[in-house]
Amino acid sequence: MLFKLLLLSLTPALLQAAQAIAPFSWNNETFLLHGKPYQIIGGQMDPQRIPNELWADRLAKARAMGLNTIFSYIYWDQLEPTQGSWDSTGNNDIAKYFKTAQKQGLNVVLRPGPYICGEHEWGGFPAWLSEVPGMVVRTDNEPFMTASKSYIDHLAKDIAQLGVTHGGPMLMVQVENEYGSYGSNHKYVGDLRDILKEAFGLPLYTNDGGEQSMIEGGQIPGALAETDGDPKTGFKARNEYVTDPSSLGPQLDGEYYVTWLDQWASNYTHQTDVGNTQAIQTVQSDLGWILKNNASFSIYMFHGGTNWGFQNGADWGDSLEPITTSYDYGSPLDESGRTNEIYNALRETIGNHVGKDTIPDTLKEEPLITIPEIRLTPAVYLFDSLPKPVTKKAPVNMEALGQSTGLTLYRHVITKPVNGTLAPGDAPRDRVLVYVNGKRVGVIDSTYEVPSTVHLVLKKSDVLDLLVENLGRVNYGPRIVDQRKGIVGNVTVGTNLLSNWQMYPLPLHAPPTSGTIHSKLSSSSGPTFFTGTFDVDNVGDTYLELPGWTKGVVWVNGVNLGRYWIVGPQQTLYLPGCYLKKSENKITVLALEPTGDEGSVCGITTRNWGNKPDPDAP
Ligand SMILES: *[C@@H]1O[C@H](CO)[C@@H](O)[C@H](O)[C@H]1NC(C)=O
Ligand SMILES: *[C@@H]1O[C@H](CO)[C@@H](O)[C@H](O)[C@H]1NC(C)=O
Ligand SMILES: *[C@@H]1O[C@H](CO)[C@@H](O)[C@H](O)[C@H]1NC(C)=O
Ligand SMILES: *[C@@H]1O[C@H](CO)[C@@H](O)[C@H](O)[C@H]1NC(C)=O
Ligand SMILES: *[C@@H]1O[C@H](CO)[C@@H](O)[C@H](O)[C@H]1NC(C)=O
Repeated sequence: MLFKLLLLSLTPALLQAAQAIAPFSWNNETFLLHGKPYQIIGGQMDPQRIPNELWADRLAKARAMGLNTIFSYIYWDQLEPTQGSWDSTGNNDIAKYFKTAQKQGLNVVLRPGPYICGEHEWGGFPAWLSEVPGMVVRTDNEPFMTASKSYIDHLAKDIAQLGVTHGGPMLMVQVENEYGSYGSNHKYVGDLRDILKEAFGLPLYTNDGGEQSMIEGGQIPGALAETDGDPKTGFKARNEYVTDPSSLGPQLDGEYYVTWLDQWASNYTHQTDVGNTQAIQTVQSDLGWILKNNASFSIYMFHGGTNWGFQNGADWGDSLEPITTSYDYGSPLDESGRTNEIYNALRETIGNHVGKDTIPDTLKEEPLITIPEIRLTPAVYLFDSLPKPVTKKAPVNMEALGQSTGLTLYRHVITKPVNGTLAPGDAPRDRVLVYVNGKRVGVIDSTYEVPSTVHLVLKKSDVLDLLVENLGRVNYGPRIVDQRKGIVGNVTVGTNLLSNWQMYPLPLHAPPTSGTIHSKLSSSSGPTFFTGTFDVDNVGDTYLELPGWTKGVVWVNGVNLGRYWIVGPQQTLYLPGCYLKKSENKITVLALEPTGDEGSVCGITTRNWGNKPDPDAP
């Protein structure tokens, strides 16, 4: 407060002097770090998608490609998994990540959202927001602003002392994320700007797509306005449409897309420029052009990492487009932290500009390991290891059960004969496996524009099970408003309303610890957990291959490695050496749709990308 008053009473000349000595600032031509021109040669890398054991390695490799700044989204849902809780341990220890970056000679730019998109579950929003009365996200709605301020203040408590003003690596903070692609409520963005300013005391910026409506929707006085995507059109649009002097400054391409994300679907191919000389030359030429023009960039992604557990979000096209477990993103540093030809090409481009001798040497990489066939045996049937149910007349959504991700089982016992088409609430949210007396009779999958229709003929005492999987909450676009999962609304069969439900939350944070142990699959076993143990000669990174498995989840030594799905394009799961030990490694694989062909997994050194037909296609 005192400092602010002082500034107000300064003469313009003194004010200019005070700004000049601000640790990080800018004029219209360049960023200034401790008064000297600073060109941001940046790359995006989010700590919460990378095992913290590997942060130092990934950051060192960023520096060794010639980057000087790391841009990081922060995932609110991981830090505050239930309202009022706070978990800044493990991969959520943002302070440790930023300190590690500084040790590696990197500065950081904070992108805390609260909305971050990032192909992350609900764009970073915690699922519990859905249950707060009156909540509307991404607008100046009181419940939303209150929850957002609480999150930002808590985050600031952890990391504000790492601002450049205190000798830390954090240069500036982004307000919201591509808000202009979503709306134009300047009061909302302004309120958020004020909360972030007060919490971090650092310069602020906005980042929007390079089009007039996007820039005008997202720009807010007092925050530097920047664009992302194609740098040439973005910079030109910015010159044209950013007119407020307090938003002017040097050009920064806040997200230069080297390639693109991957979605689960049997017709979606893995996105990469590896092997595509022409595409790599285009990237080199774009980034070279930015550098030559004294502008700045952040490569999206420098290193994508992994959607551990169920962190992935989804886009919405004509249907749900869930993001794969791998967030490889065709990055210069691939999901396993190995450099590729894109990395080498960009290192060359950056080296030519900053001087090759100013970039540290590339790091030695350990070879990936193979793991010979690990035999797995059926152990526990999911339907035998259910938690205590919640019983209600009408079904309630996943969030109302206190659950964010995973699956929820809805069970109903038929009291009088019914027949007709099943409607599992207002829409499938997102993939509904339908069982009658334990036997699977259909799959309703919202990744299809027209999902399958399931007709049922049910008699008294039949048990109807709806096992509903959250495939990832939408992270982009207007659908973001209602992202409740499970069942919303009534379940009907034909015109018959089904009342009285038992609901079993299955967040699957860890494999089951109880349930009858089986040694073989029975024809009506339903979803089944398989287990095995294995040793390795040398601990190292590997890619787990699951031949014959259709869909499910894998845990190794208790760590949820994420979803697998036969449709691809991801056919292998990244298993980092930091989650392995030499002997007695435990593996559990949940087979949601066992066929009898499951039995083994193995570790391979070269990743498989590819697609297979969806056995459940409508
Ligand atoms: C940039 O230029 C504009 C227009 O000349 C001026 O009003 C503004 O103060 C300048 N901004 C900075 C940060 O120097
Ligand atoms: C995949 O198939 C769906 C349904 O036919 C279609 O809507 C979608 O555009 C296709 N996607 C690609 C990447 O070809
Ligand atoms: C970039 O900055 C350098 C050093 O300040 C200057 O000599 C050069 O003219 C600038 N180039 C452009 C394209 O603005
Ligand atoms: C379906 O329900 C209708 C109306 O209750 C009934 O008349 C019909 O017999 C039922 N069909 C079957 C196959 O059970
Ligand atoms: C579900 O059915 C009950 C009973 O008919 C009705 O009162 C309620 O409004 C329905 N709920 C929804 C969301 O349609």
